[in-house]
Amino acid sequence: MRQHRTAPGETAGSPGLSEALRARAVAELLAARDRTTALTATLDDADLVKQHSPLMSPLVWDLAHIANQEELWLLRRVGGREAMHPRIDPLYDAFEHPRAKRPTLPLLAPSEARAYGHEVRGRVLDLIGRLGSSGAVTGFGADLTGPGAEFALGMVAQHEAQHDETMLATHQLRSGPAVLAAPPPPGPADAAALPAEVYVPGGPFTMGTSAEPWALDNERPAHQVDVPGFWLDTVPVTNAAYARFIADGGYDDRRLWTADGWAHRQQAGLTAPLFWEWDGGWVRSALGVKEPVVPDEPVVHVCWYEADAYARWAGRRLPAEAEWEKAARWDPATGRSRRYPWGDEEWTPARANLGQRHLRPARAGAYPGGAAPCGARQLLGDVWEWTSSDFLPYPGFTAWPYKEYSEVFFGPEYKVLRGGAFGVSPVACRGTFRNWDYPIRRQIFAGFRTARTAAEPAPERA
Ligand SMILES: [Fe+2]
Repeated sequence: MRQHRTAPGETAGSPGLSEALRARAVAELLAARDRTTALTATLDDADLVKQHSPLMSPLVWDLAHIANQEELWLLRRVGGREAMHPRIDPLYDAFEHPRAKRPTLPLLAPSEARAYGHEVRGRVLDLIGRLGSSGAVTGFGADLTGPGAEFALGMVAQHEAQHDETMLATHQLRSGPAVLAAPPPPGPADAAALPAEVYVPGGPFTMGTSAEPWALDNERPAHQVDVPGFWLDTVPVTNAAYARFIADGGYDDRRLWTADGWAHRQQAGLTAPLFWEWDGGWVRSALGVKEPVVPDEPVVHVCWYEADAYARWAGRRLPAEAEWEKAARWDPATGRSRRYPWGDEEWTPARANLGQRHLRPARAGAYPGGAAPCGARQLLGDVWEWTSSDFLPYPGFTAWPYKEYSEVFFGPEYKVLRGGAFGVSPVACRGTFRNWDYPIRRQIFAGFRTARTAAEPAPERA
């Protein structure tokens, strides 16, 4: 069972299944369900069962899969209950059926999927109300008691929130009129006064966590990493900067691309970010709306190869994952690693663009209330940020609760993304959170920022 020890250099987490954590789990489960409902209530049944892209599941699969995982982990593993509908389990096992094949399965209809989710949730709320302070349910148990039950609640809340992000990406790939709406995010108040880059001093810092109760296995354990001094972009790379890379022939200059990147650029015919088209100026389609590209918004829907080529064009490089985390968490005043760039306190709407409150990234320089100690802004929220790093285990990694959570993905095939995007829930976003994907992926809400090693002379800024 996972231990919740506090490592040196890390802020202490909750010691047990506290009342506060249980209340937060309930709030996060309800918030995720509100979002799931908003993402599916505005579509008719035909749109819910249709596959909008072979990269994505039909939305009705996500609906029942969310319920099935919640039943599996909370009702069966924590609560010790029998399976409600054992026949459907294999249909909703993400490892049994690739996304492209899911529309061919005998899936639950939208009304059945909703009813299943509703029934599971009712039983889960009842179960949470009866969890003892040790996390054990009287008469049941197995391995998910105590800290295990505490973790399972957070894991299930994060799971639904992560599917809400996936479902938003499905909406982005869907053709048809807009069905989702949200107010615009706040604009930057003082962006013009911000330096182009910030300095992060060299030295060791604590990376990863052993204290966050809801951190996933790949974020653990906390460990020391020595990171030499480096400079990091204060804000993510903007559409305007990226358009200059395009105009300067960046997509046609083989020297800027890795061999794999150039081969992919040629084979896939990449010439601009996904969803961009040229119409006398750059225009982008987003969630059913076509509009001119906003110059000072972070660029989004670029793959790792494009981010890497841009960085080389700018005379810079992508930050390593450890650099990104040090910039986001390390507080030189205390020598400790924060939970979030702004400190150890939980997210508020003034700190980062998260939770699908706004359905686009905020302009570069927004959210001064979420700045890291080094001065970098928007490290959490707005867009995922590609790093130069492969997805690898930390020293002392232990797979939990199952190998397919992270371990089977470790290796050079996947690149790490950090920070979370506007479609990510606060419950699934923190300074230690690690995302990973193939370097060709563009449908995810990913952008990037660039870095340079301190010893190098300052290049001409593009
Ligand atoms: Fe899932």
